[in-house]
This record gives sequence, structure tokens and C-alpha cells, in this order.
Amino acid sequence: MSQHSGPGQQGPEKMPSGTRAASLSRRGFLSALGMGAGAAAGGSALAGRALAAGPDPNIVPVPEWSKMLGAGVNVNPYGKPSMFEKDVVRREVEWLTASRESSVSFTPLYALDGVITPNGLCFVRHHGGEAEIDPDKYRLMIHGLVDKPLVFTLEDIKRMPGRVNRAYFLECAANSGMEWRGAQLNGCQFTHGMIHNVFYTGIPLKTLLDMAGVQAKGKWVLAEGADAAVMTRSIPLEKAMKDCLVAFAMNGEALRPEQGYPVRLVVPGWEGNMWVKWLRRLKVGDEPWQQREETSKYTDLLADGRSRRFTFVMDAKSVVTSPSPQAPLKHKGPNVISGIAWSGRGTIKRVDVSLDGGRNWTTARIEGPAMPMAMTRFYLDFDWAGDELMVQSRAMDDTGYVQPTKNELRAVRGTNSIYHNNGIQTWLVRSNGETENVEVG
Ligand code: CO
Repeated sequence: MSQHSGPGQQGPEKMPSGTRAASLSRRGFLSALGMGAGAAAGGSALAGRALAAGPDPNIVPVPEWSKMLGAGVNVNPYGKPSMFEKDVVRREVEWLTASRESSVSFTPLYALDGVITPNGLCFVRHHGGEAEIDPDKYRLMIHGLVDKPLVFTLEDIKRMPGRVNRAYFLECAANSGMEWRGAQLNGCQFTHGMIHNVFYTGIPLKTLLDMAGVQAKGKWVLAEGADAAVMTRSIPLEKAMKDCLVAFAMNGEALRPEQGYPVRLVVPGWEGNMWVKWLRRLKVGDEPWQQREETSKYTDLLADGRSRRFTFVMDAKSVVTSPSPQAPLKHKGPNVISGIAWSGRGTIKRVDVSLDGGRNWTTARIEGPAMPMAMTRFYLDFDWAGDELMVQSRAMDDTGYVQPTKNELRAVRGTNSIYHNNGIQTWLVRSNGETENVEVG
């Protein structure tokens, strides 16, 4: 199934900036929000058919699956989703990278709910293929400006006191990077799917660094992966000591191979490239190392040719996951707008939703835990009268930061950037429910 479209197929200007869908009438808009006179009538249009007193076998015949034995216990020793969910998978954008060993797959956000991403659906980005590491042969070295260089086995790390569980989002800095110059990809899986949110189990990095004894002139930590790309990033010591983790489990089980088995670095709220997988080495130094991934890559080219560097924090961002191009509206009447919000600076405090391209906003309902630097779920229950909508969401975090529009972002950053695009996303919902990636001026 190929739901996306690239610039080669449709061109970057499929919905020019400034184009708006037919505007909603005030009455239609209020009704759509469930606030107008039509709301009560709309409320009765829920699809479920009312049953008479007690189940009547003539209304609901005994289904075929009730007439035979089902599959036995442990047919799948590691459980799998229902066969009817087979399309809920990570997907690629074919034109994006030439080789599977240096590629990216995207989380199917449109089909997910709640705040935790299932391990098998977490997007993957790597630069030299998956390293296959024997846990018995795994070693983590700490050296450089430390009093006592140390080497840990996996068992050493798992026996250490002070183990923690923390939920954090991991977002690639290039998430939404293809959208800098206009609407490109038809689906939140592709526009926003380089993010996942899981519970990590591990040891604070501070614990390991304290055991090695960081010397006074130590100011940076180099994290290096054991994959063929030898992924390396420089991390300020202050961040390393504050909240970084050396994690060995995600969502209660061992890390998946593609997520760094057996040990990865967790760098809460900061760009995903720094969360080094297959963590092999931590070196303490007095300045950054100027590695490839922090010089020619993961810097933000401005309009005047200068670059922003060491832009680590992922700013507050949100996206409506349903409706979206892969999850169109199917029914008039009651519907639930569902989406996610996150901030690398703290906790999501509020999410507003617009149905008319940003003219009017309604505060959505944050449902479930809103934890710092973790994905947060929001809902807006509304009645859809079948009119065209321009659906947007706008996140605010507890520092007071408000997610900008794409044009506000471009006014400051230009359009050369790949990274750190946290602008407001717009979905055009047509009157037949089909939904498309567009921009408003
Ligand atoms: Co950056």
C-alpha cells in the first residue's frame, strides 16, 4: 500500500500557500463544534442500532466464529496483532534514501491511540544497518577525562542500583523536514511519523559517570554506537548528568535490535540522532568533537547562508492523527478528533484545535498522562455536518512556548532547513471525508 506522494509525482505546489478551502458558515462551524442548534439532533445520530430488550437472534445472528473452536493457546508464542490490523505497519518513503542500510521507516501514527508506541511500530532511522550484538559479548567503555576508566558488561548495568522507568518521546530532528517548502506527503505517518514514545528502563547516565569520576575540566561527553556507521554525537556534560539514561528495556522488554539492543542512550527532549543506539563508548572531553552528525548534518541552514548549530532541543509540536489522509472521516454526526502533542522543553499544558484553518480555536481535552518530554494525547469530540474542514492543532507547553505556524517559522528560519520543523499542520477534510495535506496562508 503506497499512500504517499512525492514531489516527483505531484510537485511541491499542489496546494499553494494562501489557498483556503471554501469557508465555513458560522452556523456550520458552531454545529461542527457541537455548539450550535444542530448539536442535539446530531447527538442522536450515533451509528449503533438500539437493541430491543435483550438480544434477539434475528437481529444479530450467531456469527460463524462462534460455531467452531478458535486457535489454541500459544499458537503464536510471541503474540501478534489481529490479522485485520495487518496494514498497521511502519512504512518507507521510497525516494527519500537510496539504501535500506541508511534509511528511515515511519510510525503509523494515524492508526495508533493512547500515548505509548508499540515496540514493533516505533520508527527506525539508522545509517549503517542494524548491529547484531551478542549480549554476552556486549561492552560499554567510559574513558577520557575521568579518574578511573571503566568497562561495563550488560550484567553490570542490570545489577546497578538506582534503576528507573521513564516515558519519553524520541523525535528525529528531520521529522516534517520534507514539509519546509510546502505540503508534500499525504499522511501523518510520513509528515510526522519520525517519532515514538515508549517507557524506558535503565540507569541514569550520571550513575556511570560518577563511578568513573568526571574530572573538573570535563564539559562534554562523546557517545558512540557500535553499528557500522559508528554514530557519534557530542553531548554537553550538564545534560548528561541531568536526565540522560543508559537504557536496556523499552515498554517492559529488551530493546528491539533496530532500537539499539542491548543498550541505547536516552537523551530526553533532545533530537533523536543523539540517542545513540548500540551504545559502545562514552568519552569525556573538554569541548565538542565536531563529528559528521553535528557539522554537515543536524545543523540548520538559514536563509543568509549561516547555520544554526547544536540545536538540540525539540520544540513543542502537535499533529491531528485522525482525521488525516490515511484516516479519513467516514460518518457525519459525532466524531472524535484525535492527536498527539509533545515538547522537549517540558510538559504539554494545552492543545487547541481549529476546524477552519486557524481562524477559530477550541481547547482540546488532554486525556491520559501528560508527562514531561513525553507524548501527550488530546481529543476533541465534535459533530460533523459534512462541510469542508481545515483541521489544525496548536500545542503549548509549561514554559509558555506556543507552537508556531509554518509561515511564522519560515520568517525566522527561511526554507533551506531540513531539521526542526515544528510548524502547525493543516489537514483539508473534503465533504466526502477524504483528507489531504495542505497549507493555509
Ligand atoms: Co538540531
